[in-house]
Amino acid sequence: MSEDLNIIAGTKAGQYESLIPQIKGLLEGEPDIVANLANVVAALKEQFDWLWIGFYLVKPAFAEASYSVKASSDKSADKEELVLGPFQGPVACTRIRKGKGVCGTGWEKAQTIIVADVEKFPGHIACSSLSRSEIVVPVIRNNEVIGVLDVDSKELNYFDDTDKVFLEKIVALIAF
Ligand code: SME
Repeated sequence: MSEDLNIIAGTKAGQYESLIPQIKGLLEGEPDIVANLANVVAALKEQFDWLWIGFYLVKPAFAEASYSVKASSDKSADKEELVLGPFQGPVACTRIRKGKGVCGTGWEKAQTIIVADVEKFPGHIACSSLSRSEIVVPVIRNNEVIGVLDVDSKELNYFDDTDKVFLEKIVALIAF
């Protein structure tokens, strides 16, 4: 396909509907996961111009990270954590433990979390002071969460069920 995305105006659902076949085209025939995750976040950022969008992937925990995973009282957090993957937007925190923040909560619960006001979410991890609302969509394969897609908006109460439905469809398209 052409490397230029066709960006459209219109309703949120209409924008997703226009983008999905283009994302399928970008993914088609390409087995490299980093390339595919990078193009998916770039396509979404170009269409919606959100503050931040990116993947965090479940990976083995790094004992020498700036916090000590060994000191954690939550033993389930010792073996694995979310690690920053391809993203678009301001620099972000690199590691998130299970159950921490919106991302770690989406991982632990294996469900999409919509946060209308990040300041009201207990334990929200503020990577950017400009973020006002957020959605986290788990990537589930073989009944296990293998990562999350995280999106931040500068607007309060931006994300709704339309984002949930379409972002869940988009993460399902990616072959991990
Ligand atoms: N706000 C997230 C952290 C990741 S950043 O938004 C990029 C959280 O609470 O998990």
